[in-house]
Amino acid sequence: MMHADVEEVLLSGEEVQARVVELGAQLAADYEGREPVLVSVLKGSIIFLADLVRAMPIPLSIDLMEVSSYGTSTESSGQVRILKDLSTSIEGREVIVVEDIIDTGLTLNYLLRYLHDKGPASIRICCLLDKPARRLAPIEIDYRGFTIADRFVIGYGLDYGERYRNLPYIGVLRPSVYGAAPPA
Ligand code: IMP
Repeated sequence: MMHADVEEVLLSGEEVQARVVELGAQLAADYEGREPVLVSVLKGSIIFLADLVRAMPIPLSIDLMEVSSYGTSTESSGQVRILKDLSTSIEGREVIVVEDIIDTGLTLNYLLRYLHDKGPASIRICCLLDKPARRLAPIEIDYRGFTIADRFVIGYGLDYGERYRNLPYIGVLRPSVYGAAPPA
């Protein structure tokens, strides 16, 4: 059943699950014997992370960070405040950054520099959704679930005002929910 606030289902739960299983298999093959640490950013990415690691039958660990952008979301400055840091050392580790969606790329750009300074053996990026239309910082994405158009999406971890994260599919939010201007 489609939520009343959803204008269109962009990716069904089945489509998302199938792609996540493919990404997991690809990552498991690439990282066999390397015991990677998957670093995810709260909160939106945890649903993706939870499904992704269950599709990766290799030794791995996970760690979580939480960040907040300074200023409003409409004028993202790229300045990021770390609300929750890594709980383990990533020095010498093979890091996979797991992201729900990459939009301007500013948050991830900051995060990558921060992680690089901690001396990992490697860093690669795995994102479920790539929204390249609004990219401001160049980001090399190593593993990508889907490329989507510049529309505000919710579900499968993605929120609007902390709601809709529990929808099992990716949907386009009905404009009447957010008023005149789209968020983010
Ligand atoms: P950026 O790449 O620094 O612009 O920010 C990425 C973050 O913005 C994501 O992790 C999401 O939290 C949020 N975001 C960007 N686009 C959307 C969207 O369409 N729906 C929900 N959140 C979004």
